[in-house]
Amino acid sequence: MSYFSRSLVALLPLAALPSCSDMDTNKGELEQTGQLLALSGGDAGATGACINCHGLNGEGNGGDAPRLAGLNAGYVVRQLDYFSSGQRRHPKMVWIADQIDWPERVRLGDYYMALSVPDAVPGADPLDDSACSAETVRLYHEGDAQRGLPSCVSCHGAQGQGDMGNPPLAKQPAPYLALQLDHWRSGERYGNPQMMDISRLLTDAEV
Ligand code: HEC
Ligand code: HEC
Repeated sequence: MSYFSRSLVALLPLAALPSCSDMDTNKGELEQTGQLLALSGGDAGATGACINCHGLNGEGNGGDAPRLAGLNAGYVVRQLDYFSSGQRRHPKMVWIADQIDWPERVRLGDYYMALSVPDAVPGADPLDDSACSAETVRLYHEGDAQRGLPSCVSCHGAQGQGDMGNPPLAKQPAPYLALQLDHWRSGERYGNPQMMDISRLLTDAEV
């Protein structure tokens, strides 16, 4: 029994204690929700609780921890798999992912996909082309054929909204996105050949 469900049981007044078989069922239901895992960290414990870094509403921390709210469930599960398999190497996320089994990853993915994207995400610039240089906007929408750089739009969408397999770039903390491009350039994040190639065609300023 996790610390979280144990303390929940401890809070129940004695007279309200359900029978043993009821308790087993209730415990199963509690442990199965993605929300409880996000709040408690499951086997990763309180310090591994997703809300510590990804925020109570999955909005991210404005720095290195991305928004999870509204991400595609399959994408979330795949990233947790990547942390376990070594394709992504952030030490804390690797440790946490290792404590979360596959059915729990699926529940967490479903939970975060169902959370609505917050109106404002800390660390994310509002999607406003006027805030960027014309050159950056052109690069995003058209790429650069001379360098063999495809447009970002072709996979991440005109609004940076992403789709099932391609994650959103809009409403993600800018420091997080820049870090990921650096991770691909160095090979610390690998397994997606297209993003590895693309990151290496960009200059530091473009990242
Ligand atoms: C101690 C802080 C911390 C905790 C706790 C934490 N994360 Fe993370 N998470 C991060 C950081 C930092 C990153 C970015 C890692 C990188 O740079 O590769 C990340 C990345 C992710 C990603 C990749 C998202 C993307 O856009 O590619 C997923 C999915 C994720 N975390 C899920 C979870 C889940 C689910 C939990 C709870 C079980 C959790 N995290 C707990 C800090 C944390
Ligand atoms: C051929 C499709 C494709 C193109 C073109 C593309 N991307 Fe991606 N991008 C992806 C996929 C797929 C992922 C997720 C990879 C994974 O699962 O690890 C991704 C992930 C990312 C991430 C990390 C997002 C996260 O939440 O961790 C960043 C940042 C990014 N791309 C930036 C760009 C930029 C900037 C461009 C244009 C210069 C671009 N991408 C062009 C397919 C593409």
